[in-house]
Amino acid sequence: MRPLLVISIASLAYAAPSIQWKHCTVDNFPALSALAQPDDLQQLATVSTDIIDCAELQVPLDWNHPHGKNITLGMARYKATRPDKRLGSLVYNPGGPGGTASTGAIAQALGRHTYTNATVEHYDVIGLDPRGIGLSTRVKCDPDRYNKRVSLFPTTEEEFQALVEKNRALGESCRNLTGDLFFHVDTTNAAKDIEAVRLALGEHKLNWLGLSYGTQLGGAYAELYPEHVGRMVLDGNLDHAQSETSTLQTEVSTHEDVLNQFFTWCNTTATAEQCPLKGQNLPQIYDDLIAAADESPIPAPGCNGTCRPFVTGEDIRFNLQGGLVYVQKPVGSSRPDWSDLAQILNETISGNATSFSSGFVSFATSESDPSYPDIAIGCLDWSHASTTLSEMIYKSQLSTYLAPHTKGATQSYRYQASCIGWPAPLANPLHRLNQTAMAKAPPILMVNAFHDPETSYVWANSLLEQIPSGVLLTRDGNGHTSYSLGGEASTVIDAFLVNGTLPRRNTVVDS
Ligand SMILES: *[C@@H]1O[C@H](CO)[C@@H](O)[C@H](O)[C@H]1NC(C)=O
Ligand SMILES: *[C@@H]1O[C@H](CO)[C@@H](O)[C@H](O)[C@H]1NC(C)=O
Ligand SMILES: *[C@@H]1O[C@H](CO)[C@@H](O)[C@H](O)[C@H]1NC(C)=O
Ligand SMILES: *[C@@H]1O[C@H](CO)[C@@H](O)[C@H](O)[C@H]1NC(C)=O
Ligand SMILES: *[C@@H]1O[C@H](CO)[C@@H](O)[C@H](O)[C@H]1NC(C)=O
Ligand SMILES: *[C@@H]1O[C@H](CO)[C@@H](O)[C@H](O)[C@H]1NC(C)=O
Ligand SMILES: *[C@@H]1O[C@H](CO)[C@@H](O)[C@H](O)[C@H]1NC(C)=O
Ligand SMILES: *[C@@H]1O[C@H](CO)[C@@H](O)[C@H](O)[C@H]1NC(C)=O
Ligand SMILES: *[C@@H]1O[C@H](CO)[C@@H](O)[C@H](O)[C@H]1NC(C)=O
Repeated sequence: MRPLLVISIASLAYAAPSIQWKHCTVDNFPALSALAQPDDLQQLATVSTDIIDCAELQVPLDWNHPHGKNITLGMARYKATRPDKRLGSLVYNPGGPGGTASTGAIAQALGRHTYTNATVEHYDVIGLDPRGIGLSTRVKCDPDRYNKRVSLFPTTEEEFQALVEKNRALGESCRNLTGDLFFHVDTTNAAKDIEAVRLALGEHKLNWLGLSYGTQLGGAYAELYPEHVGRMVLDGNLDHAQSETSTLQTEVSTHEDVLNQFFTWCNTTATAEQCPLKGQNLPQIYDDLIAAADESPIPAPGCNGTCRPFVTGEDIRFNLQGGLVYVQKPVGSSRPDWSDLAQILNETISGNATSFSSGFVSFATSESDPSYPDIAIGCLDWSHASTTLSEMIYKSQLSTYLAPHTKGATQSYRYQASCIGWPAPLANPLHRLNQTAMAKAPPILMVNAFHDPETSYVWANSLLEQIPSGVLLTRDGNGHTSYSLGGEASTVIDAFLVNGTLPRRNTVVDS
């Protein structure tokens, strides 16, 4: 065993033990049973530790009190397939917040293509579950309180009070079931965890591939430890410096932009098979569907206790945003294909809303449901300062003006509404990245599509302004994040990860 490395994080000593890797079995890691199907777990248990292994690391629950209680971080490592070409470890985050990273490494080990070939040939990919998530010490909440229905767009004082009361009661249940970790799942603590993992891995630098929320987590790491940044890729960018209103305006507009592109696609390039609603007045049909479902929720007969049995127009508006992502088909092409969404809309119009009954608006089935970390992290990270019905109506009016079809239903609005009354103070307030620190960071590759329904191109550019060494690669297309699409952007990302090659500034690729 290596001797302990005593390092300084937040100017306090932390002894990073070396990591003990083990076979990824439920016996070794009981939390695995909640992350994969029984068949997959059985198969995983037969996969050699030469291919994948798992580990845990103890870190302080609160990095401001490094000698207090510990929590566990869990991770899975998919090992470099060409050990002769191995460059080190690459820590991967798929976004969320609340997304599990270990499951990506597990999927890859089970033969489901998750990472690019260049990535896996040269790196051990570390699927590190951030605190609160997956194999790490989990956020837990009461599912009944989570599932209680309230509108996030209150129009009366009564509805507003119901919203605040739900938020408070849910938050209280999370606090009681999770313990003190409830107050410390913010991105700053999570970024310090990454530094502990880097040291425990014995890596000189942190190589990082962060998608979506993974850009915020990676950015937070770079701000704290600029001199330890290795090859860092931020794909699908969030900007933690914008005000509540400005965040809302930006995300609302990009969601609406992509919905309009979907409408046009359906009426023009799509075949009638791809879009059963082709040739009709789709924007009107969509608006009518939302109004009708708000009036009389549509059944979701396929749910059977695992999703919401009825779906409102508001549910559809929120879950639509997820339906508009990942659309390039076939792999590597630049052509959008929203046929899945078209099919789902057609099905919903004919009275079966099953496919809109899960997503951002999800249904929890246990105290360890994977839905919870998203809101627990979101409420510590994103400002939610409204305290009155009037302020909510103001946001709704502004959003409806900017986005007449989607009317403000976005992920950032969800935190702004769902965190009012949350029983924990904001832990990671909005701020521009520290420019003194960022000046020390090596080149960072940023990637964003023009028409991303979730992370706006505007955010990528405002984050770029805060990263002097940032080089932004633009993809002229749709979809949220680019790494997995197998097109030109994936090739550029691989070239950076493997060879350190950066694209010229202002490069735009088509796929
Ligand atoms: C917390 O974890 C660190 C690193 O493994 C260890 O050195 C320390 O003793 C642990 N602290 C407690 C209170 O368990
Ligand atoms: C990646 O590797 C797999 C297995 O070695 C191979 O089948 C596949 O064609 C490769 N993909 C690309 C894009 O080269
Ligand atoms: C949480 O715990 C407190 C103190 O023990 C208790 O008063 C409260 O009822 C609990 N709330 C929930 C939602 O469990
Ligand atoms: C789609 O095409 C039909 C028939 O050409 C037309 O009536 C309809 O207005 C178009 N819808 C949109 C949104 O362009
Ligand atoms: C409703 O849609 C879901 C999802 O497409 C499907 O699995 C289910 O069979 C449908 N149910 C009915 C009653 O049509
Ligand atoms: C619904 O769930 C129950 C209990 O989990 C199960 O027995 C039943 O077969 C399910 N029905 C369908 C249609 O999937
Ligand atoms: C679209 O929905 C209608 C019923 O409203 C149905 O007759 C038709 O088969 C559906 N189209 C496709 C491609 O599923
Ligand atoms: C910004 O970064 C510099 C250098 O890394 C550091 O000395 C300073 O304390 C940081 N400022 C804040 C407000 O954290
Ligand atoms: C890295 O550079 C080498 C030499 O130029 C080249 O053959 C290889 O394809 C590059 N790798 C990637 C992933 O771009």
